[in-house]
Amino acid sequence: MKSTLNSTSESATAAIFLSAVLFCFAPVCSGEESSNKRTGEDIYKQFCSSCHVAGGNTAKPSKPIAGSKVLKSIATFQEYLENPPGHMPYYKTVVNDKSMVRKLYEYCKKLKQTQGA
Ligand code: HEC
Repeated sequence: MKSTLNSTSESATAAIFLSAVLFCFAPVCSGEESSNKRTGEDIYKQFCSSCHVAGGNTAKPSKPIAGSKVLKSIATFQEYLENPPGHMPYYKTVVNDKSMVRKLYEYCKKLKQTQGA
């Protein structure tokens, strides 16, 4: 009887352990942050804010994001990011991920230029 009990609790322990291991294969647990969980602001901070502080443009002050005609539609925004002019960099990771572009677009639309003019 004793040995039956033991093997039952052992397999229960194994099951718990296994589910913990399996859970860690889920995207939540993996180091790579899923793009679904990132907000437009996160993406903006990572890729854009170094030049576009607060919706402005430190690299070329006459071309701020806030109020830009590039934000007219998601299509114009996407196209701009695919073919950025001048010193505006090309971001493959962003351009190839539609949900990132959309979040970024929505965030950029909300920006108001607070500096310069
Ligand atoms: C290395 C600096 C730099 C970074 C980083 C950068 N940009 Fe730019 N951006 C520029 C420059 C310079 C221009 C002006 C390009 C030109 O017309 O000569 C520009 C222009 C733009 C414009 C168009 C403004 C207009 O009306 O002409 C948009 C929109 C824009 N950037 C969005 C972004 C987004 C979104 C990101 C992040 C994914 C980003 N930029 C990251 C430098 C940068």
